[in-house]
Amino acid sequence: MLPEGYSIREVKASDHLPYLESLKVLTTVGEISKSQFEELVEYWKKNEVYHPHVVANEKDEVVATGMLLIERKAIHECGLVGHIEDISVAGHQQGKKLGYNMICTLAEKAKQAGCYKVILDCSPHNVEFYEKCGFKNDGTEMVKRF
Ligand code: ACO
Repeated sequence: MLPEGYSIREVKASDHLPYLESLKVLTTVGEISKSQFEELVEYWKKNEVYHPHVVANEKDEVVATGMLLIERKAIHECGLVGHIEDISVAGHQQGKKLGYNMICTLAEKAKQAGCYKVILDCSPHNVEFYEKCGFKNDGTEMVKRF
């Protein structure tokens, strides 16, 4: 259960600055103008792969982010796989179960969409958090950066 006054919803074009501010807890975001952000949100909304979510506070301001991508595969009879990305809870909002609720919501959406599994990559220091969200450590992440 989310704390009183908080809710999970899809991102809106008007979320520009608080959305970017919440994401900065995760990594470098850089400069993204209002119009670039509006274009991005429009792109996400038109493309059925992207399901960008936020946790909003009682003033409807974004305090956490989370993205679900749904991949359509050939294997498993054209099976669907959910990918969770860009989970980030604003520093002063951490420890209120917002991250937990975001993960549970995205995982449930993946299940409802017909995905046979939902996966994510994370740092070793977040393994325990994801285990508390019902995930298990199931492999090794590989990366080639450009
Ligand atoms: N290690 C161990 N346990 C943790 C951690 C952690 N890093 N973070 C939270 N927990 C525990 C909490 O203590 C709580 O335990 P409890 O149920 O026994 O009380 C439980 O996990 C749920 O915690 P929440 O309050 O939901 O955690 P929060 O809202 O603070 O979100 C998060 C956790 C997302 C890791 C947040 O701290 C954050 O944004 N960190 C910085 C960005 C980041 O690392 N994001 C994840 C990237 S991976 C990805 O995007 C797929």
